[in-house]
Amino acid sequence: MEPSASTSGPPPAAPPGTGRPEVEEARFRLVLGHFATGVTVVTGTTAEGPVGLAVNSFTSISLSPPLVGFCARNDSRSWPRMRAAGSFCVNVLGEDQEELSRAFAQLDADRFLGVGWRPAPSGAPRLEGILAWVDCDLEAEHAAGDHVIVVGRVRDLGVSGHGGPLVFYRGGYGRLTP
Ligand SMILES: Cc1cc2nc3c(=O)[nH]c(=O)nc-3n(C[C@H](O)[C@H](O)[C@H](O)COP(=O)(O)O)c2cc1C
Repeated sequence: MEPSASTSGPPPAAPPGTGRPEVEEARFRLVLGHFATGVTVVTGTTAEGPVGLAVNSFTSISLSPPLVGFCARNDSRSWPRMRAAGSFCVNVLGEDQEELSRAFAQLDADRFLGVGWRPAPSGAPRLEGILAWVDCDLEAEHAAGDHVIVVGRVRDLGVSGHGGPLVFYRGGYGRLTP
């Protein structure tokens, strides 16, 4: 039986118009953190120099046409600069590149300090020591809550390392090899 309005207490917070209770943020993070991912650094090039950020929301989307994607926070400072360039390069990190991931997640740091790279065909940085790279032209961008879903059309890609991948799981780094 539905509780009457007088005994049900305050209704759970719900997004306007949906009638569904909002999922608690901590629970969302905890549960989704159980989905293991790799780690990438998405890079781009601007008139002021290279830009890049650590990203674990990277995914393969379509084979024909070849599309990949990732999600960028709405308040990302790097993404709008890559968008302006119209291209980006996804650098898949190897198991020994945890420090690189941390560096590219840091605010107000020179993320490219001491980092070797050369331009991918789009001009976006291909970082030294990575496992694989996927160079893309910006295909589409879709608003999605507090992130945007970025879709890239692959223009070139390659495998450039031989070790295992850097893994991100439950908020921490891990490796597939012991
Ligand atoms: C392992 C890891 C994965 C991350 N994944 C994402 C992601 O998928 N999307 C995102 O917007 N930020 C992600 N971040 C956070 C950004 O790297 C971080 O907020 C960075 O400072 C953003 O830089 P920007 O403001 O220059 O874009 C991740 C950070 C780490 C350490």
